[in-house]
This record gives sequence, C-alpha cells and structure tokens, in this order.
Amino acid sequence: MERLAGQRILLGITGGIAAYKCAEFVRLLRAEGAEVRVVMTAGACEFIAPLTLQALSGERVRTDLLDTDAEAAMGHIELARWADHVVVAPATADTLARLAQGRADDLLATVCLATAAPIAVAPAMNRVMWDHPATRANIATLEDRGTAILGPEQGDQACGETGAGRMREPAMLVEDLVGLLTGSGPLAGVRVVITAGPTREPLDPVRYLSNYSSGRMGFAIAAAAARAGADVTLVAGPVDRPSPPGVERVDIESAREMLAAVEARISGSELFIATAAVADYRPVEHAADKIKKTDEGERALRLTRNPDILATIAARADAPLTVGFAAETGDVVAYARSKREAKGVDLICANTVGHGRGFGDVASTLTVVSAGGERTLGPARKDALARELIALLTDELDARCRPAERLKQ
Ligand code: CTP
Repeated sequence: MERLAGQRILLGITGGIAAYKCAEFVRLLRAEGAEVRVVMTAGACEFIAPLTLQALSGERVRTDLLDTDAEAAMGHIELARWADHVVVAPATADTLARLAQGRADDLLATVCLATAAPIAVAPAMNRVMWDHPATRANIATLEDRGTAILGPEQGDQACGETGAGRMREPAMLVEDLVGLLTGSGPLAGVRVVITAGPTREPLDPVRYLSNYSSGRMGFAIAAAAARAGADVTLVAGPVDRPSPPGVERVDIESAREMLAAVEARISGSELFIATAAVADYRPVEHAADKIKKTDEGERALRLTRNPDILATIAARADAPLTVGFAAETGDVVAYARSKREAKGVDLICANTVGHGRGFGDVASTLTVVSAGGERTLGPARKDALARELIALLTDELDARCRPAERLKQ
C-alpha cells in the first residue's frame, strides 16, 4: 500500500554529511507514492550531487533563489504553495538557526518562510553543537511555532564522537511522515486529554494566586501525542505558548474551570495526562471589588482546598489510563509511589525540581512509577522526554485493553 499517495513533499537538503542518506529517503518517499521535489542548499551540493536527487525524484532539483529559468518554470512562492509538507533533512545547526530567525536569503529558507504547509526538521550535527544553548533556543523557537522536530538519534557520529546528533534513518523519517500526514501513527484513533500550565485562583478583579509553571512539558506531550496520531485535547491554564499543531486547545483559568473542562471531554478518552500545576487551594472569598489596604500591619487570607482533578478522573467508573506528575525536591520515587496510591492513578511521572533542576529546558530524567515498578526516561530535554513518554504510554495502552478498532489497524 502506498501510504503517502498523492502527498506533495518538498524536501530541503542542507549541508551535513547525512545528506548522502537523502538519496535513500527520496527513494522510500516515492515508493510510498509521494510526489517529491528537492531543494538543496549550496552546502548540501558539496555532499551529494543534485543530479542524483533529480534522477530519484523525477523532478528538477532547485538550488538557487535567483535562477531565472527555474523561477520561470515554478517560482519559489509557487513551490512553497505546492507543498503539502516541507521536510528539512538533514537540518544542520546553521539551518535551524536560520529557520528560527526567519531568514530569506536562500531558496530553502525563503520557501520555509513562504509556505503555509507544516514543516518538519530532522536535525543532524555534532553532539556538542546539538547541546549548545544556542541550538536549544533555536529548537525551542521552532517547536513553539509548530515545527515537528524529528530526532536526532543517539549513536556514533561521523566526527568520531558518540552521542545525540545522528539524523534519523530514512525509513524512520518515512514512518514519522506517514504519522504526521495521515494521522495513522501508533495512537491513531486514541483520544487523549492533557492538562498543562498553572491555574489562577482569583482573589478580586485584579489579583490572583498562581505559580510559575510554564506549561512546557504538557505542551511537549500534547505535540508528541498528536504526532503519534492521537486526537488530543489540551486543557491549558494561562501560558504564553502557541498551540501544538493538530491539538484542540481549551483555555481555562481556575482549578474548578480546569476540572469542568476535563469532565466535559473525558468520556470516551483512553488516556488522561495531568501535567498541570493545579493550585491546591483557592481564596475562600472572591471579592467582587478590588480589596483595599488597611492600616493593619498584617492580614490573613483564608484558603480552601481545590478539587483534585487527577484523583477525580481516576475515580470515575469509565476512567481512562491516568498519568500524573510529581515534582519533588527529594525522595522522588518514594513520594511518587505514595502519590500514585493516594490518588488511585495508573502511572506517576516523577522528576526532581529545585536547586536549579526541573525548570526551563535543561536535560532531566523522568521516573515513571507504575504498579509493576519503575522506568527511567532520559536524561533528555522536555521534547525528547515527551516523545519517550508517549512511546511508553503507547505500549501501556497496547498491553491493556486495545479497543477493537485499534486492533484492526
Ligand atoms: N493535580 C490535579 N489537581 C489538583 C492537584 C494536582 O490534577 N488539584 C495533579 C497534577 O496535575 C499532577 C499531580 O496531581 O499530575 C500532582 O499531585 P500533587 O499531590 O498535587 O502534587 P504536589 O502539589 O506537587 O504535591 P504536594 O502537595 O504533596 O507537595
């Protein structure tokens, strides 16, 4: 079966040693029925001949923005419109920086800026370059804009080092694209509800209680689940973060609004992932008018418990697989185990926070505690951890009752 039949894929090849793998990548894409057009940067042409890609794609390869002949045949704007999906592979550190900046000084960067099609990048570079804060920031920018980051993989590198930075193998990239373009990934047909971000508990019309949660982990998990083909609803507290592509987002403010939004959507879901930093308490009173200061030196604030969203969902008769998060400053696994039992949830993902750990996008580990024991994911950054977690949850769902329609796939 040609799983990419009729899909128009624009492949951007940039100047890394992994460019040689693109010959195989184009061949596999064509074998899946995709129409492929190739744009190469000057650096890419040093690693693999455009003629090779032309022979394999069956289309003229474009290398220059200012090529009058090529522009007469299909201008760069038409090329940008033609694509159903843009894939940049290998994406060098320089390419990621240029895409993050929105440059338009060569054909590939210009097409990426001019297209409305989703963009995926398959990074490939030396592991130190991949770990550099500049590359981290560029990846975060691209992810926030909805770019799918495919890889890189761990392993031996052409530079003689070993670590994260190898381009994903062409066959894996084809599977990624099949998932992205046809919604037929391993979680196809699975409904997932995810909570993310902080909640705000109003005190009066101009004040609230809240916390510093950025929502990054929940948004990364939502993006990874959507890329795996799931039907994702993201119930998000106030965060300044764009919605991941293909995800239904419901914005709420307070814990009670978050619970109502989740309860309205949970029926029929197979997976509930609670990453939100829900305020445990809210002010007893929500003053209708702004609270005025008085001459007293102290003032007490009365608080009352908020509903526990995770425990409420886990207690339902039709509860999906429930996954909670526990951020602790010490004794992480022991606390996670007791939290798992106290809330009656299937899995708790525990991480260590405090002393500079757990906040921001630095590499960390996630210990997933279930009835059967523990598994540690990472160390990796949040987007990679999210991918690993979704892979683990896919196995977990498969091991439980797979609905008939999933078995048929
Ligand atoms: N959670 C929830 N609703 C709440 C509180 C927490 O759904 N009202 C979820 C969070 O999304 C997270 C997990 O429960 O998945 C965290 O559990 P919790 O015991 O609230 O963690 P902490 O507040 O970090 O723990 P503690 O108060 O024990 O320090």
